[in-house]
Amino acid sequence: MVHWTAEEKAAIASVFGKVDLEHDGGDALGRLLLVNPWTQRYFSSFGNLSNASAIAGNAKVQAHGKKVLGAINNAAHHLDSIKVDLHDLSSDHANRLHVDPENFRRFSEVFVIVLANKLGSSFTPSVQAAIEKFFAVVVDGLSHGYH
Ligand code: HEM
Repeated sequence: MVHWTAEEKAAIASVFGKVDLEHDGGDALGRLLLVNPWTQRYFSSFGNLSNASAIAGNAKVQAHGKKVLGAINNAAHHLDSIKVDLHDLSSDHANRLHVDPENFRRFSEVFVIVLANKLGSSFTPSVQAAIEKFFAVVVDGLSHGYH
């Protein structure tokens, strides 16, 4: 099982205490779709994703980002059961949605950038390290259904 230090737990709790569950997930998903345009192929039912303002104003992107962030927030509150908790979601992404698991890592990268923009100087290197460890565990959990 992954070991979390008291400092890592405090950093993760502090960051997720400041996350905006309504909007930050949509911002991160929007950034993923712009920075890695080929990821748009998974969201062909979402309508216009042709440029930054279309993506920012796309209600389906916002709603889906909120759903994704909800799952991540849940993981942040249950650090010791992430792998088990993400089991079904992982199988779903592997077997039904056929999402290349490399995209989970890309999503975590853009999410870190959303957090850095939002939190500014409070997003210190040690907070970043704790968040990156957290995302590595989430990505691992989501990728588990693939092997
Ligand atoms: C659906 C979580 C990353 C593609 C979902 C759902 C959740 C979720 C909670 C809804 C499941 C349901 O309705 O049963 C996550 C988490 C991610 C992640 C926690 C963290 C990294 C990604 C990435 C992609 C992706 C990177 C593709 C690039 C999809 C698609 C759906 C979906 C296509 C179905 C959307 C729809 O048509 O409603 N995901 N996801 N996910 N996810 Fe993910």
